[in-house]
Parts: sequence; structure tokens; C-alpha cells
Amino acid sequence: MKKTGLYLALAAALGLGMTACNRTESPAAGATAEQAALGSGETFWTTKAVGDIPSIVLTDGPHGVRKQSGNPDHVGIGASEPATCFPPAVALGQSWDPDLVRRVGEALGTESRALGVGVLLGPGVNIKRDPRCGRNFEYFSEDPLISGVLGAAWVAGVQSRGVGASLKHFAANNAEDDRMRASSQVDERTLREIYLRAFERIITREQPWTVMCSYNRINGVYAAENEWLLSTVLRDEWGFDGVVVSDWGAVRDRVTAVAAGLDLEMPATGGMTDTEVSAAVESGALDAAVVARAAARVARLANKASEHADSTTSFDVDEHHGLARTAAARSIVLLKNEADLLPLSPASSVAVVGGFATNPRYQGGGSSHVNPTRLDIPLDEIRSRAGSVSHADGITEDTLEAARAADVAVVFLGLPAEEESEGFDRTHIDLPDQQLQLLAAVVQAQPRTVAVLSHGGVVRLDTVAELAPAILDGALLGQGGGAAIADVLFGAVNPSGRLTETVPARLQDCPGYLNFTPEDGRIIYGERVFVGYRWYDARDLAVTFPFGHGLSYTSFDYDDLVVHAGTHELTVRVTVTNTGDRTGREVVQIYAGLPGSRVSRPPQWLVGFGDVTLAPGDRRIVEVDIPRNELAYWDVDSARWTVETGDYTVHAGASSRDLRLHATVGVTGDTAIAPFTLESTIGELLADPVAAPILAAAMSELGQSDGQSEGQGAGLGTDMIRMLASIPIGRITSFSGGSVSHQQVAQLIGEVNRQRS
Ligand code: BGC
Repeated sequence: MKKTGLYLALAAALGLGMTACNRTESPAAGATAEQAALGSGETFWTTKAVGDIPSIVLTDGPHGVRKQSGNPDHVGIGASEPATCFPPAVALGQSWDPDLVRRVGEALGTESRALGVGVLLGPGVNIKRDPRCGRNFEYFSEDPLISGVLGAAWVAGVQSRGVGASLKHFAANNAEDDRMRASSQVDERTLREIYLRAFERIITREQPWTVMCSYNRINGVYAAENEWLLSTVLRDEWGFDGVVVSDWGAVRDRVTAVAAGLDLEMPATGGMTDTEVSAAVESGALDAAVVARAAARVARLANKASEHADSTTSFDVDEHHGLARTAAARSIVLLKNEADLLPLSPASSVAVVGGFATNPRYQGGGSSHVNPTRLDIPLDEIRSRAGSVSHADGITEDTLEAARAADVAVVFLGLPAEEESEGFDRTHIDLPDQQLQLLAAVVQAQPRTVAVLSHGGVVRLDTVAELAPAILDGALLGQGGGAAIADVLFGAVNPSGRLTETVPARLQDCPGYLNFTPEDGRIIYGERVFVGYRWYDARDLAVTFPFGHGLSYTSFDYDDLVVHAGTHELTVRVTVTNTGDRTGREVVQIYAGLPGSRVSRPPQWLVGFGDVTLAPGDRRIVEVDIPRNELAYWDVDSARWTVETGDYTVHAGASSRDLRLHATVGVTGDTAIAPFTLESTIGELLADPVAAPILAAAMSELGQSDGQSEGQGAGLGTDMIRMLASIPIGRITSFSGGSVSHQQVAQLIGEVNRQRS
């Protein structure tokens, strides 16, 4: 595209904005009006064409392109053009397969181009803090690493097709109730380590074209108005140079938002807020250079998107359906398989029970709702593979009979669509009672029963796990889910999906149980970094199925764990052997822990993962590189990521609760040793290998000058040391009856620091 007038002026403004923003460089009022206009939508889904800057389309996302054809809305009501409905993040995440996620991203990018979309609104990488969040189906995990790795793959895939991603919802948007007002009250270490971590990874590695700021407030300040979030962290620290777009309707006060770092308000406000922005510049309340810079970013985005636009792009509906089906099959988790009930033999007679077999639940409700190009029906797919099949929605005399007469029963269970959606949270995590009764009745008639689960948020599964000898968890599988379920049931696909979220024994055990509901508009993140498995493991709580869990139709052994600590990373190698009789894929998970860490940490956290596909009897080394940064914690005092010196435990396992091998590796940290001061406690000094003998000698000397027997000071009993431990060394003068001066203590500390440096 030829770049003329306005674009060039704005490009200059962007350069200007990257240095200083001061009022002396403000453009004329006419230019300000044009720039303000660029900063808000023309319609529900488009930006404005201004001068030579073209208009572009932004639309949802994330698991399919929702290009609306009729009345626009952001809650999934109006019609949209057909597009492939890939598995939503809740399922896709269970693949633990960044290559697959990238391929899905590429297909989404192609469909976006074909439908004239310049920016696809996804991925959602918010952390699943609590299973009740109504929108968990749109997010990958309770863990920031897997969310970040898969989110990055999604962005890379979409953007490789010349379509922008919109990383959302930035940030700490982990509940739906009152989402447009509630404040997430969260301390900085927790924010950095858990809630911002995936965003940081994706932004620094993939540079998404846009980031969508969320509806909620963070520690009292709306995300859209949060300068610390949108400018200090996002731009200054992470180097983001794309467009910050608001979630639809998230802007309360555009002038404040623009000053904080917002570039584009969506959807259209009919030009109303453009006038407010111009007036604020006119009155001096808003820096003109800030408006120019925001407009320049939008202009650059619009140009980039339209340069790649190509009205001749089309997509192969069958091929993309095939990919949706492959992705769905890889996302299914085999939770339980007693006595190798699965896979079923093709000749089996199968009694299929449950409404989801004919009317599948395959995506969530709200803005991400896609109009699929087609839909695989599980019952049809089972029919095409089994010997004979009966079906009933519920229990009748006949259904009981049919289940008894068949070789096996397959019962479809799950959450009805009306129980979970964007926009509201659940109040419980139970499956409907009738479904559990249905399962119990079927199992009574036919003990060889497989439960197949559909749900967006985690559901309590203890009863299902007690009743059903085999369980397949599909979460929400998208339009190819029906065929994928049949592929796994009959063994055409050997399952390799893994949970990305813990299935707790009961809601009351969840980390946010008492703190999920907003109170006076505030949601207290009181569990701090202990989210998901970090919480259950730290508290040693029983869970129904742990994070990372998933079985296969074959089995794997792990041997020879070797960990090498390099300057920038740990290299972990483990040998995996397929000990069963089918080819299968194993996802190897690497966790690290630091016993005795100076900050409160879980016993272990995920630091990397890899996978391997092996034929029966084959063995191969899986190598996982772990950037040193995965060991770091956020040090609040120095405001930076810090790796502690210490002996880290590195585990290789098949889930967070199936850690097969471990090794210890010494890591030299990057903490500059903080000098001791008069505020350092006796306990801290005694815990330090250099300071302890110096202090002990001084105490012993003091004891002697006090007339105590030799060595008494140094030989203080443990109880005495524990009592003295919390006294800052500088206060010792107050307790010495005048025998120790401030100067002597200062000398002692000076000597300690000298010997430690
Ligand atoms: C959602 C966003 C979505 C937007 C546009 C909002 O309600 O939170 O995720 O992209 O609507 O539909």
C-alpha cells in the first residue's frame, strides 16, 4: 500500500512518542481530531478509515473465526459466517502439543484472511484460578508455563498468515461475575509469577500485534486505565510495540485510558469519546503527543493488516475439518481404564446412552461461539465403527435391557450449555444429579461401562470415578469431536492428552474457595502463588485426578535422568521406553523444587515438558531445555526476577503426582549478596556460614567479660537462640546493660560484611 500524508505524519509521531512526549510538539487541532478518531472503532467490529489509513476488521476468536453477518454482539447471539470450530483452549491445552497448536493457529489465520479479518481476538491466556470461572473453557490452564507455551504457538501460527493476534484478557481477569467492575486484589509477586507470566512469555517471544486489556480493575485501577500495567510493564519492561485494544466496552474514561497507554477503544462510540480526547488535548489535560502516538500505532496496525489482506484467499473446509478432528483426538484425556476396558474391539455391540451422543456439547457460550462448517455426531461415528449400536437419551426399561445385552455401554455425561458461559460464574462444580443416577443405573446393568465427559469448566468426578471403570475426558472438542471420540474409543488413536487443570476432590478444597466471590467489589487473591496443583501439593490434599494426568493404551518406563546446569539453562535428559504393545505418545513433564527456598514456594512447579512417540519396545532420550528463568521467583524488594543459589530438585514424571525420577542439581544464583545491617536479626546472622562464627565468638567474649564461664556465650542453648533469633542485632545494646556500644555492633557487622564480600 502506498503511504502518504496522514500515515507518514503518524509514523513520525510514533518516533516522537518513543522518545519524549511533550506538549510543545503537539499537532494542530485538526490533526488531533483525526488522531483521536483513529483511536476508537467505526462499528462494532471495525476501525475507522481516516485519510489514507484503511479500516480493518477485528473479530473473535479464539477457537474459530466468528465473523458476524447480521446484527453485531459480543455475547454470541447473532449469526456468523461458517468457520471451522477447532477445540476450545480447555481441550486444545490438553494436547500439551505446541506444534499442533501452531498448526491450528495457521488454519485460523488462513480462515481469518479468507473472511476479511485483520485481527483475530485471541488467544485467552488467563489462569484458571478457580474451577467456577464461567469462562475457563476459553483458557488453557491453571499453570502459567503451559498457558504461555501454547499461547505463544497459537500467536505464531495466526500471525504467520499475516493476521494479527490479540492476546487477552490483560490482566488478572479470572472470574466472570461482576467482571466489568470487580477489582482483583493481588500482590505483585503473585501477579508476576502466576497471572502475568504467560503474557510476558508470549509478548517477549512472539510480539502479538495487539493486546486486549481486560474489563476488571487490578488493585483498584481499571486495566484500561492502569499505567503501570499498560505502559511500565507491557511497554517499558517487555518491549511491546503493538496496539493495546480495549475489551469491548471496557473503557470507562477514554481520556484517562489513553494517558495510561490505551491505543484503541472498541467498539464504536459514535465518535463521542473522540471528542472527549480532542477536548482534553485542547484544554491541556491530555498530552497531544500521547494521542498522536496511540494513533500512529493504530495506523501501523491497520496498514500491516491491510497489506496482508487478500480477497482471493480461501480455505479448504475438508482439510480444516480434518485438522479439527486430529486436534480433538490429541486433546482427549484417558482418565481411567480399569482392566484395559478400552480400546473397544470393532466387532463390539455398544449401548450408547446420553443426549450428548446425538447433540454434542463442543464449544462454550459467549463471544467465542463459532458457526461450525460441519459437526461430527458421536453416535454416527460410533455406528460407523462398531458391530451393533443402540442409543437412548436416558433410562427406560429398554435402555436397561439394551445395556445388559451389549458388550459394553458408553455413557455421555457433561455440563449442559446453560450451566456455564462467558459472563457468569458457576456456584458449584457438580454434574447434574440425574446424570450420576443415569450412570449408576447403566453400570448396574452393564459393568463394562465407559463414561465420556463434555464440559468447559472442571467438574467434580469422584462419583464418576467410583462407578465407571473407564473414563474419557473430552472437555469441549470442537466440530471434529464426535469422530475423535470414536477414534479413541476404538483405538484408531491412542490417547495422549493430559489434564492442564487439577480435578479436585471437592470444591471446598480449591485454593480460591473462600475468596472467589467479590466482596465489596474486591476479589482477594489470598492464596497468592499457590494456584492449582501448587496449592494441592503444598497442602498435601488428595485430588480426584492431578494436573498432568492422562493414561495411554500402552505404558512407558522412565530411566536415566541426567540434569546438566549450564549458564543460561538446565538441560534435562530422560530415557523413555514403550513397555506396552501399541505405539503411543508420552508427554514427559519436568518439575523443579527448591527445598529451603527463602520465599514461600510450592514443593515443585512445572518448568518444562517434551514428548516422544514410540513403537512397542522402543526407547529414546527425551531432552528438555529449561531456561534458568523458570527457576526464578519475583523478588519484591529488588523488583526483579531472581534465581536463588541452591540445590534444586528436578523431577521427571507423567503427572504432578506421578513423579518417576528425580535428581539434585546445584545452581549458582544471581542474587547479589545483600549486606547485613543493624536491622538484620541474630537469627539471620546465625544462619549465615560466615557471620555465625564471628557472632558466636563475640557472644562468647561478651559472656566472659560478664563473668560467665568460658564458652557459655557461644554455647547458648537452642531455646535461648530461638528466643534471641528475632532481635535485630542493632538492638543488642539495649539489652546489654551498657556493656555493648553501638560502635561495637557496627564494627561487628562491618567485619561480617567484609569477610562475606
Ligand atoms: C469478550 C472478549 C471478546 C469481545 C468481543 C468481550 O465480551 O470479553 O473476549 O473478544 O467481547 O466479542
